[in-house]
Amino acid sequence: MLVTGIELLKKANEEGYAVGAFNTNNLEITQAIVEAAEEMKSPAIIQVSEGGLKYAGIETISAIVRTLATKASVPIALHLDHGTDFNNVMKCLRNGWTSVMMDASKLPLEKNIEVTKNVVTIAHGMGVSVEAEIGKIGGTEDNVTVDEREAAMTDPDEAYKFAKETGVDYLAISIGTAHGPYKGEPKLDFDRLKKIKEMLKMPIVLHGASGVPEADIRKAVSLGVNKINIDTDIRQAFAARLRELLKEDEEVYDPRKILGPCKEAMKEVVKSKMRMFGSEGRA
Ligand code: G3H
Ligand code: 13P
Ligand code: ZN
Repeated sequence: MLVTGIELLKKANEEGYAVGAFNTNNLEITQAIVEAAEEMKSPAIIQVSEGGLKYAGIETISAIVRTLATKASVPIALHLDHGTDFNNVMKCLRNGWTSVMMDASKLPLEKNIEVTKNVVTIAHGMGVSVEAEIGKIGGTEDNVTVDEREAAMTDPDEAYKFAKETGVDYLAISIGTAHGPYKGEPKLDFDRLKKIKEMLKMPIVLHGASGVPEADIRKAVSLGVNKINIDTDIRQAFAARLRELLKEDEEVYDPRKILGPCKEAMKEVVKSKMRMFGSEGRA
């Protein structure tokens, strides 16, 4: 069934686990996530980036996810990932999405508060939950010094002020993860996470979680992370299986015989994350 984001994350926060938020751009990725969630009896968040909206078209991707989520035997939310354009957020609200992220984290704190607060008022009026970001979660390709890395991390006092003034439902924070494939091992600032959770007590979101070692993920969940974003690991599983398959069988040409096994590979990644996040059996 299709549910709101806060319905999933409120329960996760109370019971101490995290719900995976998996990015989709098409039918096969969406099927992989929904089938994994049903097999694991796990809740799931299916999210689409602004790039994903452009790639698939908002009506098409809304129809794919809403149809599969509505039919699913487990609760699933449809979420806009990193909405930086207010118009995209409004389009998602009009297309029946159940959660949106207003990402104004590049703006100064007061402006981020103003923009987020406005979205919270509109979205809550329509029964839709809202995520926002404070601090800057970069890409693994960004060349940053230790000082710059530290400056990009979320300040606990600012996070407290932000959460209180905006009324946002869940908050993405920067504690050392980054988007895309890591070159070395990510170094997470667990003390910062612990402090922020103790002050805010609300559901906390971890972006850039692909490639983060299992022990670190489990520790982050134990310290209060309740939504974990995964895109890169699914993309890599898809691409690796595709390369392997085309090499194994140079005659294959039916897209279903190619994309079917790729979907299975993505499904295995999603299932392993659900186990790691503690959401298995929580539906
Ligand atoms: O946060 C980034 C997500 O992995 C989405 O990536 O903008 O390439 O769709 P994308
Ligand atoms: P990864 O690139 O680590 O999968 O992060 C995805 C993400 O944070 C989407 O918002
Ligand atoms: Zn992200």
